[in-house]
Amino acid sequence: MTAINPVTDLDVREGIAVLTLNSPPVNALSGAVRDGLHDGFQKAINDPAVKAIVLVCAGRTFIAGADITELGTGAKGASLPDVQSMMEASPKPIVAAIHGTALGGGLEVALCCHYRVAVATAQLGLPEVKLGLLPGAGGTQRLPRIVGPEMAMEMMCLGDPLVAPEALKVGLCDEIVSGDLTEGGVAFAKKLLAEKRPLVRVRDNDSRVTPARGKPEIFASFRKTHERKNRGFLAPEYIIRCVEAAVNLPFDDGIKREAELFRELLSGPQSAAQRYMFFAERQAAKIPDVPADTPLIPINRAGVLGAGTMGGGITMNLVNVGIPVTIVETSQEALDRGLKVIRTNYENTARKGRLTQADVETRMGLITPSLDMQALASADMVVEAVFENMELKKEIFRKLDAICKPGAILATNTSALDINAIAAQTKRPEYVIGTHYFSPANVMKLVEVVRGDKTAKNVIATAMALSKRIGKIGVLSGVCYGFIGNRMLFGRNVQANRTILEGASPARVDKVLTDFGFPMGPFAMSDLAGVDVGWNAKTSKGETLRDRLCEAGRRGQKTNAGYYDYKPGDRTPIPNEDVVAMIREFAASKQIRQRDVSDAEILDRCLIPMVNEGAKILSEGIAIRASDIDTVWVHGYGWPVYRGGPMHWANSMGLDKLVARMQEFAADDAAFWTPAPMLAELAAKGGGFK
Ligand code: 3HC
Ligand code: NAI
Repeated sequence: MTAINPVTDLDVREGIAVLTLNSPPVNALSGAVRDGLHDGFQKAINDPAVKAIVLVCAGRTFIAGADITELGTGAKGASLPDVQSMMEASPKPIVAAIHGTALGGGLEVALCCHYRVAVATAQLGLPEVKLGLLPGAGGTQRLPRIVGPEMAMEMMCLGDPLVAPEALKVGLCDEIVSGDLTEGGVAFAKKLLAEKRPLVRVRDNDSRVTPARGKPEIFASFRKTHERKNRGFLAPEYIIRCVEAAVNLPFDDGIKREAELFRELLSGPQSAAQRYMFFAERQAAKIPDVPADTPLIPINRAGVLGAGTMGGGITMNLVNVGIPVTIVETSQEALDRGLKVIRTNYENTARKGRLTQADVETRMGLITPSLDMQALASADMVVEAVFENMELKKEIFRKLDAICKPGAILATNTSALDINAIAAQTKRPEYVIGTHYFSPANVMKLVEVVRGDKTAKNVIATAMALSKRIGKIGVLSGVCYGFIGNRMLFGRNVQANRTILEGASPARVDKVLTDFGFPMGPFAMSDLAGVDVGWNAKTSKGETLRDRLCEAGRRGQKTNAGYYDYKPGDRTPIPNEDVVAMIREFAASKQIRQRDVSDAEILDRCLIPMVNEGAKILSEGIAIRASDIDTVWVHGYGWPVYRGGPMHWANSMGLDKLVARMQEFAADDAAFWTPAPMLAELAAKGGGFK
């Protein structure tokens, strides 16, 4: 074994060179790895004793891509295109032996090998789009030459990998190895030599791309199909343009086009935001006073209280990963309704081919319905998702404390209430925690894990680990009204409501926010959630616009009328002039002057209060870091990931400009628009949120 450099070894066995990369955690293509590949391949190619070369990685995975921390920094080391050219031109066959994930630049390196073998669990993909990028190391030109333009666009625009057996079917992989991967790779290389198989250079085979030449409708149709999903994102469109180049231009010209478009994306704000979010999401799992090796409480059986909107979704999350759930309700009717919704959700997924009917039955089989809280006695963790009512929650926690076994975690899904007050009802406040899921709970990726004053570290670690286990992103929050996300939402809603009283229509405000990239504006969201959430018919006296809407029976989508009208069974909001007239009348009764509120003003008035509240949340220690706040907003509320969350957005705008804008608005309401001390200080220093 020869050390090529600290992360690369070369070993020659019976004429087969094995080049091994060992650069934890994921063998990303750092300068050292590129150097290792360059020098290692050169040495093996020049060694007359070597007849074929196998590239393999140590540790948990094959090369998982370019080193994202180095992208755009002009880092030192061999150039990747040079390494790839040397590999592809090698007169000796090179075999990539893949385990874990061959992603991005990793797969692009493998595509310059003449053959690829993989273990059955390996995943192969080009996920650059998720970082606001396109595959910039030849992937957009080579992948279509193997799988055809349509499938290549699908793989690169969605960014999801194929597992090895699927990759085998489409020719991306040549053989599945069972047993030791290196041995399998060496055996495959020997077979190539014995059978005198040709050196396959992906770049030279145009047979999959030429049939698409002169057929622009292929691309038009792909664009149309993915229009909604790709709204606002640049990278998918650039990927499509690269595949058009792969189809219409010679290989080297296609590579040039890819490089130009890659550089443009790399230096643009969208990719900067998405790369920032990549690390933000991972950072969120790190809690300074809860070490990574904190022992976890095993969660083998769970309980959920309440089979409503949230309880149902939370139950699905748990059974999806095989955790049996006992779900408790107050009436058979509520229980039946809750289970029916869960089943319908699964059946819909099965209809789309993403689950088998057997999976549906297995998951439903893991749910035990009950009307008796005693059935929760053996659960390792219970998640309470009953009505948002403090007295009810207190009573339930007293009961749970008496029923649940010692050491069981008692979690609440409250969206705003005081976890400490709830914990104080029990004799085990250290086992009480908030796990705040977002609606629809089986879809949205965020869980705000809310730490009470007495919550134990192993309980926090377990709740964070459980979030990851069910495929979600856990973000830790301290206790305050509304935690991180909803507390920031309140400020946005105050201003959205004011702008409609000053002259904007709900549809205009919603459009400004959807044009910014949110999936939905505040008024459409209010209709979805129910205009009457927190409204009381008995005490309502028409004092607020909401009172008036609810009194008029406009309670949101459920009544087919709220800020908008709805056709029965259709969620599309239809603006209604009578509502606008109702708003104008209400504003007049409050002597609010009407004027034209510009789109830019609407946007700033809705978003800047969120940043200001975020600064308070940070200085109070409710959120550990600004990037946690951004993670909450991207994954819980649909803040467009290509704008990187409110705190990143504020940094990109410049905090000084943001504070100056607050000063402009302060004429109307000085108290509301006073910058938080942290924001004022950072703006004065010319700094940003870290
Ligand atoms: N560069 C730098 N660091 C990376 C990295 C990369 N490509 N991929 C992962 N890491 C780091 C993570 O930040 C994390 O660091 P931490 O432990 O300090 O937080 C560590 O590796 C482990 O990552 P995960 O926590 O995500 O581990 P998982 O096992 O859950 O997932 C993975 C592994 C599937 C490889 C996942 O990390 C992943 O999807 N990585 C990104 C893959 C990617 O996007 N590749 C394309 C890069 S862009 C590119 O290649 C451009 C090219 O076309 C020119
Ligand atoms: P929901 O009204 O849809 O469901 C609540 C369910 O709890 C009902 O089915 C009810 O019968 C049941 N229930 C009431 N008392 C019970 C008891 N003593 N024992 C067992 N079941 C009981 O309410 P939803 O929307 O699911 O909200 C539940 C909790 O989740 C609330 O705290 C809410 O604030 C929170 N939340 C709601 C979100 C949403 O968008 N709906 C988002 C995030 C959190």
